[in-house]
Amino acid sequence: MAELEQRGDRAPAPSAWEYESAPESREIVKLEERYGLFIGGEFVQPRSGEYYETLDPSSEETLAEIPQAAPEDVAIAVKAAREAFTDGWSAATPAERAKYLFRIARILQERSREFAVLESLNGGKPIRESRDVDLPLAAAHFFYYAGWADKLEYAFPHRQPKPLGVAGQIIPWNFPLLMLAWKIAPALAAGNTVVLKPAETTPLSALLFCDVLRQAELPPGVVNIVTGDGATGAALVKAEVDKIAFTGSTEVGKAIQRELAGSCKKLTLELGGKAANIIFDDCALDQAVEGIVNGIYFNQGHVCCAGSRLLVQESIYEPLIEKLKRRLTTLRVGDPLDKNTDVGAINSRQQLEKIEELVAAGQEEGAEIYQPPCRLPEKGYWFAPTVFTNVAQSYRIAQEEIFGPVLSVLTFRTPDEAVEKANNTPYGLSAGVWTEKGSRILWMAQRLEAGVIWANTYNRFDPASPFGGYKESGFGREGGRHGLEPYLDFDGAEAFGG
Ligand code: NAI
Ligand code: MG
Repeated sequence: MAELEQRGDRAPAPSAWEYESAPESREIVKLEERYGLFIGGEFVQPRSGEYYETLDPSSEETLAEIPQAAPEDVAIAVKAAREAFTDGWSAATPAERAKYLFRIARILQERSREFAVLESLNGGKPIRESRDVDLPLAAAHFFYYAGWADKLEYAFPHRQPKPLGVAGQIIPWNFPLLMLAWKIAPALAAGNTVVLKPAETTPLSALLFCDVLRQAELPPGVVNIVTGDGATGAALVKAEVDKIAFTGSTEVGKAIQRELAGSCKKLTLELGGKAANIIFDDCALDQAVEGIVNGIYFNQGHVCCAGSRLLVQESIYEPLIEKLKRRLTTLRVGDPLDKNTDVGAINSRQQLEKIEELVAAGQEEGAEIYQPPCRLPEKGYWFAPTVFTNVAQSYRIAQEEIFGPVLSVLTFRTPDEAVEKANNTPYGLSAGVWTEKGSRILWMAQRLEAGVIWANTYNRFDPASPFGGYKESGFGREGGRHGLEPYLDFDGAEAFGG
């Protein structure tokens, strides 16, 4: 402090701040050595007798053993869900269902620190994000749908909404608890019971959530959790469920759609994206830089709606790229449990290899790479924040979802050209527009083929706002009143063409 004071007002600001490490304590999390499947309100060992190890991706340390559920285990879980549906849950008064959802929301809030630490430990995301984004949003989702549970008749007037039965839900590893909340909250509010399969690399927060369900005294069998890899997911798709809700890769989404074709099972798919974040020359440049950084480096870029293609108006290309590069040098990459960390660990070796492959392809195709100087830890899975300039639309890094901290920069001259380039992708999940003109925002929003369009912000989520895609990004909406619809049947709906 004394040293700083002596420098006086005219001293140049230090170019880089040094931070002491500020790790969040792991103590609050109690891990089991080996977990069971959560079926009928109990942890049971899998009939398969098979287990695999789940890791901390920042250290490659083994955290616990997780059951690899076989089709037989999945069938038992579905049976438990079916019994819970017919034996009471579907007949419970809507206010009674709301009561449990409110309880779950409250307990998640009370235990949010524990969940945040576990989420960062098992998934690699910075504690700042799991604490400030994942946990508050997961709780908010349960609160939001608790509010709808006894108002379905008002949400869908004259349509006599009824639950479907058992919902099979398959979720990815990028927002493990939040995706669980997106799936379970509307399903229960609508009166269904659930069998959910978390992603193989991030099962721990879903297993801790089972403890929340017990604490909330949710009737046994209303929510069942089966762990395992894609084979377990495939078994759930084939099982006696009434609906499948899937979030994950477009490849697996297509396979599920083929499998369910001709069956009576309902389906919603939330798949990949390659969003354009579009920067007009009249925008607030510094704010746009923050939005670009948040758009692609949030959660290591493991975000389906990430702003992975930056479209910059040519007239501001140079100052913008210079500001962006300077901002990148201030990002701190490292220990996910450190409260100062901005970019954590890549979720798995498999995902790291995918990022490395696409980045190598970008360099081979002729794009120019920039990475700020940063020291990556020796153990664990890491990738430095990366920007590619000189990117042509045909390059793989401009077409394929990288799902990592890698930004591809393209330019445009006119709004028409921006729309054309933004829509030049098989995906259509999200987009960002930065401009000071409200009329231009609306003009762009009408033309962009994307389910969510942010204006002068990015990666903002709210349970009241529907989320979902066009084209290969999937179909169906999650969040809002729209998010209830895929979990309901409507008597007499056909008569009205609905
Ligand atoms: P994935 O689609 O294989 O995994 C997502 C979930 O689906 C996991 O729970 C997995 O066990 C399950 N699954 C896998 N194969 C299945 C099958 N045949 N039937 C039913 N369920 C199955 O995604 P993966 O392999 O982890 O990541 C590959 C790429 O997918 C990523 O690099 C990224 O581009 C994209 N992805 C997109 C996500 C999104 O939020 N839209 C989330 C995760 C991945
Ligand atoms: Mg896969």
